[in-house]
Amino acid sequence: MTPKRRKAKATAVAAANIAFIKYWGMRDEELVLPVNPSISMTLDACKSRCTAELLPGGAETEVLLRSTYGKLEPAPERFARGVEAHVERLAAWAGVSSPMRIAAHNNFPTGAGLASSAAGFTALTVAVVGALGKKAEPTELSVLARLSGSGSAARSVFGGYVEWPAGEHEDAGHGVQLAPPEYWDLCNVVAIVDPRPKSVSSREGHRLAPTSPYWERRQEELPARLDVVRRAIAVRDLELLGPVIEKDAVELHLVAMSSERPIFYWQAGTLAVLEAARRMRDEGLQVYATIDAGPNVHLICRPEDEPAVAARVRSLEHVDYVIRDRVGGPPAFDDRHLF
Ligand code: DP6
Repeated sequence: MTPKRRKAKATAVAAANIAFIKYWGMRDEELVLPVNPSISMTLDACKSRCTAELLPGGAETEVLLRSTYGKLEPAPERFARGVEAHVERLAAWAGVSSPMRIAAHNNFPTGAGLASSAAGFTALTVAVVGALGKKAEPTELSVLARLSGSGSAARSVFGGYVEWPAGEHEDAGHGVQLAPPEYWDLCNVVAIVDPRPKSVSSREGHRLAPTSPYWERRQEELPARLDVVRRAIAVRDLELLGPVIEKDAVELHLVAMSSERPIFYWQAGTLAVLEAARRMRDEGLQVYATIDAGPNVHLICRPEDEPAVAARVRSLEHVDYVIRDRVGGPPAFDDRHLF
């Protein structure tokens, strides 16, 4: 993953991840440190591509997005500012000062609770470090990706099953791989009920979380829940994993809905997919739902059940379309540059 020679231009591809135990609540906003540990599965199909190129001194950093039609366009102001700040952070880490041209593209809906920031900021981190000709171990890349502000990016730096411990010290705040992707072939059928960007950011959700009366209760239950998830991954037991991840997802939303300024990410389609998951289980399919900060539902299942799950979910009235994903690997460099 680390280039052998200095390159002025690099492209990296990184995947989104789906949290089994959710990160919801920050204990340090500046250092982007979580209150509780989280565990996720890195995905394979939902990917961000990022190209970074050094520009001659005197130029200004430029941030572009590639549209679905393949056209490169200037990124919206707010997004561009976040990217520029991260590029500066990475340049300072590398001990250089250089403007850059950055282009990014997601092959899945952005800002809709599908961890597009985790994939995007991981790809950006790896591409910029590559373009700067620097080497970094995955743990260091994970810390750098996290400092972008997208804490869950700390997990997308690794493939397979990943824990982000709550870590007492800033440097301990990196992801740790619990198992590689080939250890357990799990599928994720994503029911897209609304592909539009969510109206309340995760950052706002993290801030508001401790104001919910259910916040403390979830924190008390998390150590036991995390243990079950670690054990379920170790022994590849979906019937052990499933009920716990579904419970944790529902509780994240319970906290969000009951925080001082309530956040409702769920839509009618969200409930319809949750209900369909329960029915499919009654019919003997091993399928469990989880939902990040958005209305779209991730259905975790075994490869042998996946076609039936995908067909059922696709037939639901409120479901726009499905993304058929599975466990995937770490970010990688790629020669297909965006410019
Ligand atoms: C609900 O702060 O990492 O997905 O800023 O959108 O990248 P972004 O989100 P982040 O919070 C993630 C919240 C979550 C749960 C999780 O992924 O652990």
